[in-house]
Parts: sequence; structure tokens; C-alpha cells
Amino acid sequence: MTIYFDKETKIFHLQTNQSSYLFQVVNNDYLAHLYWGKRVRSTSMPKSLRYIDRGFSGNPNKEDRTFSLDTLPQEYPAYGHTDFRSPAVHIETADGGRITDLRYVSHEILPGKRRLEGLPATYVEDTSEADTLKVSMLDEVTQLHVTLIYTVYATRNAITRAVHVENKGEDTLGLEKVASMSVDFRETDFEMINLPGAHVRERDIERAPLRRGMQSVESRRGSSSHHQNPFIALVREETTETTGEVYGFSLVYSGNFKAEVEVDQTCQSRVIMGINDFDFKWLLKPAETFQTPEVVMVYTDQGLNDMSRMYHDLYGRRLARGKHRDAERPVLINNWEATYFDFNEDKILTIADKAKDTGVELFVLDDGWFGKRDDDFTSLGDWFVYDEKLPSGLKTLAEKINKMGMQFGLWFEPEMVSPESELYKAHPDWCLHVPNRRRSESRNQLVLDFSRPDVCDEMIQRVTAILESAPISYVKWDMNRNMTEIGSHYWPKEQQKEVAHRYMLGLYRVMETITAKFPEILFESCSGGGGRFDPGMLYYMPQTWTSDNTDAISRLRIQYGTSLVYPISSMGSHVSEVPNHQVGRITPLETRGHVAMDGNLGYELDVTKLSDEEISGIKTQVDLYKSIRQTIQYGTFYRLVSPFETGNYGSIHVSETKDKAVFIYVHTLAEANGLFKAVKLQGLDPETDYCVLETNDVYSGDSLMHIGLNVPYANHDFKSTLYRLEAVK
Ligand code: DGJ
Repeated sequence: MTIYFDKETKIFHLQTNQSSYLFQVVNNDYLAHLYWGKRVRSTSMPKSLRYIDRGFSGNPNKEDRTFSLDTLPQEYPAYGHTDFRSPAVHIETADGGRITDLRYVSHEILPGKRRLEGLPATYVEDTSEADTLKVSMLDEVTQLHVTLIYTVYATRNAITRAVHVENKGEDTLGLEKVASMSVDFRETDFEMINLPGAHVRERDIERAPLRRGMQSVESRRGSSSHHQNPFIALVREETTETTGEVYGFSLVYSGNFKAEVEVDQTCQSRVIMGINDFDFKWLLKPAETFQTPEVVMVYTDQGLNDMSRMYHDLYGRRLARGKHRDAERPVLINNWEATYFDFNEDKILTIADKAKDTGVELFVLDDGWFGKRDDDFTSLGDWFVYDEKLPSGLKTLAEKINKMGMQFGLWFEPEMVSPESELYKAHPDWCLHVPNRRRSESRNQLVLDFSRPDVCDEMIQRVTAILESAPISYVKWDMNRNMTEIGSHYWPKEQQKEVAHRYMLGLYRVMETITAKFPEILFESCSGGGGRFDPGMLYYMPQTWTSDNTDAISRLRIQYGTSLVYPISSMGSHVSEVPNHQVGRITPLETRGHVAMDGNLGYELDVTKLSDEEISGIKTQVDLYKSIRQTIQYGTFYRLVSPFETGNYGSIHVSETKDKAVFIYVHTLAEANGLFKAVKLQGLDPETDYCVLETNDVYSGDSLMHIGLNVPYANHDFKSTLYRLEAVK
């Protein structure tokens, strides 16, 4: 059991192997947050709630001037009765009121974890893996029932939170904000980490001390976005990759989100996360319910690497699903940077024929195979084979590629429509739009209105027809613009602010239906690279195309930042040609290979233009990767050298039994008369001796971790090293 309730003190104690989370029913049934941090044994903690009369903080109970919701650390704060801080929930009532007063009613503790209706979420395979606490709260006036749902994964050291609301009153309510979680820390001694970025420059690591007032990250783009990721962490000033406290918050959602941290007058810090309340309002009719997405919260006092390992384990094993979850991912070749739209069947077969000799296992046909698509001006939505380009059809093409010994994969962008398409001609109302307003294009395309059930059904049908028509083993599910003019022809005017979230619910239904129909297919999500690299997508598709930037040196930061939350098995990573198409940089093939091997290795270049030497270099890389990919994709990952701090990069992947490891190091700029570098490894067994296969040297695990492993002298720019370590029996 991981959840305890002390009837006398009315304290709840949620306990993982490393952390404790406590809250209490206090004063007239308000829920007060007591503690979250390093595991404690019991609920007999020093009395932590102390009250004094504070000026300008009103009192819900007339007789007690020391009790104010404005200063009380709370579990799920509402707006209106004396708390002036940002609320977790904000409701408009039928009479125009905006006050909510939530009080504890009851609770139940259940083994395991239930699914969240219509939403992605972490799960259990056996009820013994986690326990769930449901705390019921009620706003008496409106009869709004709010259930706080906590699941405790004891051995995985995670607590998930979500909220379910039900209108048991007689009037329709307007949900203006319903966050997934809130937690009030009684201190402000933190720095906040978040992952900002842009297209082809995703997930930088930003870190700044909290200050009084509001600091927040959010997306208003209709997707989780390249620009911010639905993740924040609070850390101490002294926290490093390997030491110090970290509180991680990650939202399992792919749409508009907001993470807020508000530091109040007494220097308490309130963290709230959930669907963005900007441009959001959900009408909840009597008897209707609303389910928020889930936030996964982890705590460690062992630094950021430890936080990442918690997320990697939970997201890799209990968020990703299906037969590919634990399977070695194939080495693929994708034709996008090789041909862009300029290909035909012969060209594709020539590339595939050359690629097959390198040991690549999967050929992916990217954008341009459907409608009349020769550029990005046309055909999205017309998911029918482009006969002039592929006269023998997809089935024959896929079979020819299968005969070469490779699987066949296909690109789709099911959420989009080109104004120049048969689909748009037939259904101009099927895109997001607002009457009498311009329909702004981005990459010459519009967003299909996935808040409409009929649009979703049609797309399920069109994608299904193609997937059934040919032996397709892999799908790349792309999405290449953000939402503007968010409005729907389908929903009445008073429900227009529901459209962005209804879109996500529609998308999740489409993805659930298609991925369940085709369990053999490996799905990779993509949004102009990493524009929707979020836990919501990982529930349906176990890997994501990390970035449209394929330059090995840019990728060091992108992959390092991404690894803060997302498992290595989720990151698509390709070797492309030089000069690189995004930044023009020329890097050695070996370096491009080593960097791409730090994720799911693929190739994205015209192999027919390569020399025999380069082809044989690729073959060597593919052979090497196949021999280490189990350790890379499913081992334990440690960040060793940060490209954000040093410009250089180091990481190690250690197998489950610690008998194998893969160390990758990239030195970006060579220096004249430079230093010799040694990198201290992590995660090895100190008692075991390891042989570095590339040099044949044998070192003890403890010396590799405390003294360090020498890396070769950087005698040119962009020099990389990959060392395999094997336990000496
Ligand atoms: C964006 C993706 O990230 C690229 O890899 C490629 O698939 C293009 N879209 C195709 O339009």
C-alpha cells in the first residue's frame, strides 16, 4: 500500500520509494497541502500549518481572522472566496457568478489505476504496480463535484494527478479553467527549468530563479509546440545533473497547455499545470462530466539525471504501448532530404536498392506520394496514390522493397487540408475557420477541423484504406502548422471556445482507432520535427521525429534537452548529407553516425550519390548499431557532458544488468595546444571490470566513474568517439 489516511488528523500520506506527499483536511473541510519531498516514515510530522492575521487577506470564517485561503497552502484552490492567487479552477455560473467553494466530502483508495476517458495517460499492467486515491470535493451552491485523482507508482517514484468534474446541479456551468493539478510549496527557494525552442531548434534548457509574482510557460498554438514543452522542473540553486532536489511536472497532453508558478506575498510558490485557460471555456450541462489530462510529478534529491530516468522508465514502459514498446526499433532510410517532392518510382527503387546493401531495415516514403503533390501547395487530404509518380501503385512498390529485404513505411499528414485539393473543394467547411474572417495559410495549408466527428471518421476511413492497400509496416504521422482562426462550423457559437480541446479529443480518438486497427505498424509522430514531442503523442506512437534539424552538432543540444523528459527509444535521429541542409555545416560521417546512434538510428540522404567508401562506412555504422541498440534504446541513460555548458557532449547508456555500456562523446571545436579530456562515467558496477572494445583496455567500473575515461585528443572539429564497454567475466 502506498496511500494512507490518518482518521484522527485527517492527513493523507502518499508514499513512493523515495518521496512522500502529504495533505490534510482542515478548518471546515478545506484541503491544505502539507509536504512533498524526500520520503518520511509516517504522518506524525511537525505541525506545519501556522496562522496569523495577515492584512488584506480576507477570512472565509467570520470568527477566525487568522485563517485565509489567500495564505493557506492548498491542494486544489478555487477562485472567489479570499484566495487572490491564481486558481486551479474558475467557473462561471448560470447567474453570472464566478465563485467556487470546494470542500472535502469523502475519499476512496483503490488498487491500480483506471484509464482516463478519451485521453492519453500512464497505465499499469498489474494492479499491484500502483494505487489510486480519489478525493471528492463539492461546491454546495452549484453542486459541482470535483474529484482529485492521485495515482502513486511506488517503485517508479511517480505520482500522477488528474481531475474529474461533474455537474450535478440544475444549471449549465462554464468551465473557464480546470487545471490538472496544483501544489503549494511553502517556500520559494527554487529555480525553474523549462524547454523553450523553435522549429529546427527545439528544447533548449532554460533555468532561472523564481521571483515574486507569476512566471509561466504555455502554448496557444493548438499543439504542445516547438516553442515550449509541457514540462517544467523546480530545482535548488545547487542542483546538478547528479545531486540536489528536483520536482518534475510533465503534462500528458498535446494541445494548448499552461504551467504557472506564482510566488506569493509570504514567498510560497504555487505550481499549476493543465489545459491553457486562454481562449478556453467548456459548457458543462447538468449531468455532464469533464476530464482533465494527467500531470506526472516526480521528486528526487539525486539531481536531474535521476529525474530523467524516472520519466524515461515510466514513459517508456507505462505510457508507450503496443508491440513496439519493448521491441528493438528498425534502422530506417527516409527519402525526404534525398529527394524532397522530386521523385518517381524508379528513383525510389534506386535509392532503396542501394540502401539495402547497408543493412538498413525499413524504407520510408515521405511526403509527395498522393494526390497531385509535387510541392507543398497541393493535395493534403487527397489520400490517393499519385499515379503519375507511382504508376505501379503503393502495393507493388512496397512489395518490391520487401523483396529487397526491407520493410516499407509511409508518410501521412492526416490533420491537414490544402486549399488546392479535392477534399477542400468538396468540404470547404471542414477546416478550422471563423465566418467572415480570412483563413490564414501556413505552408500553404489549413487545419482540418478534428473537433468534428464526421471529419475524424472520414480521415480514419481514408488512412485505413491506404494502410490496408499495401504491406505497410511503419507510418510517419506529420503535422506541419499551428492553428489560427480557431473556430468550427459544427459547434454553436457558445461552444467555440471548446474547439481547440475538442480537436485534441478528436485527434486522440482518430489515433486510438487507427493504431488499434493496425497493431503491427510502428507509428512515429512528427510535427515539422519536434513540434509535438509530448507525452500525449507517445501514448499512441512510441517514437517521435525529434527535429527537422539533422545537423549533428545542432542535434547535440536538441537531443540533450529532449532527454530531460523523453526516453531514448522515443527519439528519431537521422544521418543526413553534408553540407547539412539546415545549417550548411560539414561534419564527418562518423560523427553524424555517432550522434544519430544516440537515438533511433536512421538515414535521410541520397545514397545513390555516395562513394563506395561512404556506403561501406554506413554499413559499418548500421552493423555496429544493431549490436548495441538494445542497450541504447532500452538501457539506462546518463547525461555526462552538457553541450549547453561546454559546447561538447557526452552520454552513456548502460544495459539493465550493467554488463554492457555505450559511451558517446562529441568534441565540437578543436583547439591548438588543447587539453586532454577525461569523462567520468556513470551507472556502471563499481565492482566490475570493463573492457573498452575499441581500444582493448580494461578498467575497473569504479575508476571509470571516479577517475574517468580518456577521450581521444580532438585533432579536428566535430570529432566524435563511441566506445563499447563490456564486463570482463
Ligand atoms: C516535416 C517533417 O518533419 C519532415 O521530416 C518531412 O516529413 C516534411 N514535413 C514533409 O513535408
